[in-house]
Amino acid sequence: QTASLTTGQIGKDGYRHFMEKELHEHPVAIGQTLQRIIDPVTRRIALPDMPFDASTLSRATITACGSAFYAGMVGRYWLEELARLPVDIDVASELRYRNPPQPDKGLALLISQSGETADTLGVLRELKTAGQSIVSILNVEHSTMGRESDLVLGMVAGPEISVASTKAFTAQLAVLAALTIDFARQRNLLDEKRERELTDNLLDLPSHAMEVLGLFDQIRTMARVIAQARDVLYLGRGICMPVAQEGALKLKEISYIHAEAYAAGELKHGPISLIDPSVPVVAIAPSTILFDKTLSNLQEARARGGRILVFTDEKGAERLKDIAEHMVILPDVSAFVAPILYTIPVQILAYEVALLKGTDVDQPRNLAKSVTVE
Ligand code: G6P
Repeated sequence: QTASLTTGQIGKDGYRHFMEKELHEHPVAIGQTLQRIIDPVTRRIALPDMPFDASTLSRATITACGSAFYAGMVGRYWLEELARLPVDIDVASELRYRNPPQPDKGLALLISQSGETADTLGVLRELKTAGQSIVSILNVEHSTMGRESDLVLGMVAGPEISVASTKAFTAQLAVLAALTIDFARQRNLLDEKRERELTDNLLDLPSHAMEVLGLFDQIRTMARVIAQARDVLYLGRGICMPVAQEGALKLKEISYIHAEAYAAGELKHGPISLIDPSVPVVAIAPSTILFDKTLSNLQEARARGGRILVFTDEKGAERLKDIAEHMVILPDVSAFVAPILYTIPVQILAYEVALLKGTDVDQPRNLAKSVTVE
């Protein structure tokens, strides 16, 4: 389905924008996606049979465009850390023409909401010709990419109408997380206890996502600071760095405010020169992920007059309270699922800023839901 086919048929259910509605659908999108890939009886990951042996895979190449690319970046951290699978990742428009050497027993992992993005499809065809196994993570399974893949791992996010992707992103992450657990098990890297722990972390996500939807008012307070800025810096470390990138992209897309995301550790190598009270710093800082390092990066930014806005948890808030101007405190979750949960408030922030700026939230200028030309 494309946006033009569905906008006529699908209503906003009382929400002001499709984006607002779709933000509220995060818990359902994650829950339905997990339902499809976790056996309800054994509560173990149950993905379809793969056309390759995950235990002997040599490398995965991940590619996508836009938000889906940042989902892929999160996937890289998971697959490398837990499944010990080397990953090459690039945006499709670059990978398509880079012509990197392809290994034997290599996997190509393509991520797309629509399954029709020309650049991603171009890479799919290149990597297929190069003998890679093609697995696509798609929301629209009956799409061109769906037809041309060896295996489709479907998300069950439902139609996404807003040009800026929201729930498809967290559903993509749910699939990538499940795939990681599956690969780690096949590669003998997970004992049963740890596997159950990780799967339970995933199963708890829909209810945590519901809690995050209760934070709109707090996020709006943060949005008022951002709405006055011309430039915004997003910082994150480790697996939360791509979440910062998704936040900066979303802000640019729908509020037209210039935002850049940096690995927090890179701050001192350049962007710190930008910091003054007119450039707010948004940090994705759960206490479980390289927190002390992020904290010291934020202290440096604060010392230079930066206005610090943070997404963290109770434990993190305790240590950030003296330097943060606003904090949004999220439920405690494991480091494994933190990137999924922290994406939600970051997208809500962009939405709230766009409302304050009065932009056309669902149809931002110059953007299309699905880009089927190069
Ligand atoms: C367009 C949209 C983005 C989206 C990207 C990839 O540029 O504006 O929101 O992330 O395409 O789309 P896909 O359907 O491949 O996920």
